[in-house]
Amino acid sequence: MYDLFFRQVFRRMDPEQAHHLAVRWIRLVARVPVLRTFVAAFLAPRAKELRTEAFGLRLHSPFGLAAGFDKNAVAIDGMAMLGFDHVEIGTVTGQAQPGNPKKRLFRLVADRALINRMGFNNDGSLAVAARLASREPVFRTVVGVNIGKTKVVPEADAVADYVTSAERLAPHADYLVVNVSSPNTPGLRNLQATEALRPLLTAVREAADRVAPARRVPLLVKIAPDLADADVDAVADLAVELGLDGIIATNTTIAREGLGLRSAPDLVGEAGGLSGAPLKARSLEVLRRLYARVGDRVTLVGVGGVEDAEDAWQRILAGATLVQGYSAFIYQGPFWGRAIHKGLVARLRTSPYATLADAVGADVRNTVNGTDSGNTTVGRAGAAG
Ligand SMILES: Cc1cc2nc3c(=O)[nH]c(=O)nc-3n(C[C@H](O)[C@H](O)[C@H](O)COP(=O)(O)O)c2cc1C
Repeated sequence: MYDLFFRQVFRRMDPEQAHHLAVRWIRLVARVPVLRTFVAAFLAPRAKELRTEAFGLRLHSPFGLAAGFDKNAVAIDGMAMLGFDHVEIGTVTGQAQPGNPKKRLFRLVADRALINRMGFNNDGSLAVAARLASREPVFRTVVGVNIGKTKVVPEADAVADYVTSAERLAPHADYLVVNVSSPNTPGLRNLQATEALRPLLTAVREAADRVAPARRVPLLVKIAPDLADADVDAVADLAVELGLDGIIATNTTIAREGLGLRSAPDLVGEAGGLSGAPLKARSLEVLRRLYARVGDRVTLVGVGGVEDAEDAWQRILAGATLVQGYSAFIYQGPFWGRAIHKGLVARLRTSPYATLADAVGADVRNTVNGTDSGNTTVGRAGAAG
């Protein structure tokens, strides 16, 4: 049904306009108590087996909405109603900014993919913090806050800009994400180099502790799929060194070659980050690599090309405690979350794992144990599999 609707309505519209229309509808439904209760009863996850714990937070399910869909924290309950058990808002920048000139979002339908060069269009940390502060939650959803650098702020002042955002937003965040991996802010991804990342993460950690002294706000970093393997390892080691709570892998890719893209060359050639199905293999590879390096010392969040329950399950087996998605929601619509949850429950029940937590990283552990690869740190006491 959604497929027909997508082809007849959304596909004929400009992708960004379609996004705003969809968000308006979702917010509208979520505002009507009877409707939202009905919709959530059907779409939101409640299977006991899917209950998950991540960086000290309890969740109904491991599956959530990736950053970028709800940049300004206006649709948190609406997305929870649709079955996203955590919603990562943002990216929010220190100052409000309009983002790049339109047109800046493109559908690669033949590839089940998107290209975006939005450039962190958002209301800024002050406005978003105020919105979160005055929010009266309807659903018990984990809210992550993803922060990035304001475009006009020079790279040399990036730390101060992130700190401003952290100070304003950490009090309202269930977890905080330092985004250093979007391809659409010049120079941003240079911050992934450990010499730049160490002081940045340290300063954001201190800022969060300063403004939210009563609780330790979990701090994560989100990385690009385009990092060389050695750089993925370096981020993993840094995360362990700094006692970071999590790593989100991955953001969109600037790569186009070798992905088997079938869309027209002019579309494929649009500048920006590619997301959706073509990102699947590399995101999974980065996740596996991270898990092999950090084991259970750092919580991993798998994102990039997750389209169905099997993809989500593969991320969990590769080391993800939480799994996120964005692009497939555009193509599959409001029943997507429900399908993922049902499929995850079915997979867990027929697997050798008693709990979801036992399944996390099982594939990587099995590989490592099978091949006895000496110096890896993977392992957890008593894990099944
Ligand atoms: C239109 C669009 C905007 C995005 N904006 C952000 C963003 O602001 N911050 C961020 O960390 N990731 C952003 N992302 C990346 C997603 O969070 C996610 O990492 C990526 O799309 C891969 O997941 P997917 O294949 O399920 O879409 C955006 C993605 C899309 C498609």
